[in-house]
Amino acid sequence: MKNISAHTYRPVSTGGLRIDHRDNRRVKVYIETYGCQMNVNDSEVVASVLADEGYGITKDMRQADLILVNTCSVRENAEQRIRGRLNVFRSEKRKRPGLLVGVIGCMAERLKEQLLEEEQIVDLVVGPDAYRDLPQLVRNAGTGQKAVNVLLSREETYSDISPVRMDSNGVSSFVSIMRGCNNRCTYCIVPYTRGVERSRSSETILREVGELVEAGYREVTLLGQNVDSYRMQQNGTTVSFAHLLQAVAETSPLLRVRFATSHPKDMTDELLHVMAACPNICKSIHLPVQSGSTRILELMRRRYTREWYLERTDAIRRILSDCSISTDIIAGFCTETEEDHRDTLSLMRQVHFDYAFMFKYSVRPHTPAAKEMNNDVPEDVKSARLQEIIDLQKQLSEKSKQRYIGQTVEVLAESVSKKSQEKLSGRTSQNMVTVFPAKRYAPRDYVRVRITGCTPATLLGEAESS
Ligand code: 5AD
Ligand code: SF4
Repeated sequence: MKNISAHTYRPVSTGGLRIDHRDNRRVKVYIETYGCQMNVNDSEVVASVLADEGYGITKDMRQADLILVNTCSVRENAEQRIRGRLNVFRSEKRKRPGLLVGVIGCMAERLKEQLLEEEQIVDLVVGPDAYRDLPQLVRNAGTGQKAVNVLLSREETYSDISPVRMDSNGVSSFVSIMRGCNNRCTYCIVPYTRGVERSRSSETILREVGELVEAGYREVTLLGQNVDSYRMQQNGTTVSFAHLLQAVAETSPLLRVRFATSHPKDMTDELLHVMAACPNICKSIHLPVQSGSTRILELMRRRYTREWYLERTDAIRRILSDCSISTDIIAGFCTETEEDHRDTLSLMRQVHFDYAFMFKYSVRPHTPAAKEMNNDVPEDVKSARLQEIIDLQKQLSEKSKQRYIGQTVEVLAESVSKKSQEKLSGRTSQNMVTVFPAKRYAPRDYVRVRITGCTPATLLGEAESS
């Protein structure tokens, strides 16, 4: 593996060996994860790398000898939240001076050694492509050195590592199929923190999916920053995302398959036809639009127009009879006018998104937008536009749920409902959370549920007796 080597940085001593790393089993690691699903999966890779070296994983921070926080840099408020958590770890460390604290993931990659100076309690800084190096870095940190590895790789996909499924419901799981991103949307920090795009071998993906099916899992979500650009040469032919998706779906008819995230410029009809042909591929597509204004899309370097996006969503509706469409929207990007904002609202109405993740534009250091554009939409205007977007989406989401009332849908039961022991919670193919009285059903069951009502976030129903 290229580009993976320890880089040890020693500005401050932590005061000598407190953890006996000769017996790793006695060393307990607590991992806290922020950000996207990719980070959740990365934490499972980290747990696997450390468990292979004999480290124990704990869910209780107070039991831990090593705290790792897997971080997100996508917006400033994500970083602020993590800084808040570091303050909590600081007071924990005051109580137990032997405790080691590591920052891993995107914030580690963005701030590198700077984190050690800014946050005096941090002992390790490890970027998203350096997790194989963690055991060595933890050893270094344990001997009082500060350990940093933030090298990005062109090849690393952790393809041979079987992630340790922490916090899993035993029903649904994430499988990474690629890493990094080559798109370089002007607002986005991801290409700088996660490096260039690389696809994982389809063989190892299928092996991992097979293992999950054997372990009783009923749903996998294939993850990548831009899944449509998945490409892998195998036996002289090119495996595209559509091929891979079909192969994963064929692993077992009992397995549901989801994926995220698609890019509007790359999402093909071939993919939609594979989805139509395979009943176990969930009819739900996350297709971030970001803005409804072609002028803003150009400034964002999204490489599609409003019309192109609408044509792609028309294709989804045409080829797939009942497919939910969700999206990401950014309010208040550089130079956004009231008219641009109206374009976003009208596109939302036109597509009728089933749900959306909505954000205020946040300047990320070193991105093209930060370097070359003026963050000129006042904060109060950004907030007001975001609120309008949220209010509209609330109405759209509610309507999209109401249309299921009176219909019977298939739900994969995932867990006992948080609010009632007698109820189960699961999702429909369209990714709608559904709660219903458990009766004789249990998690992992596919249940036909007649929808009788809904709340803003949930469908409510009754299991049909078969
Ligand atoms: N400001 C606000 N939102 C952002 N996103 C990415 N970068 C930024 C930023 N600088 C949003 C996009 C992306 C989602 C994961 O996060 O909508 O699709
Ligand atoms: Fe960021 Fe654009 Fe890549 Fe998504 S596609 S991770 S928004 S650069």
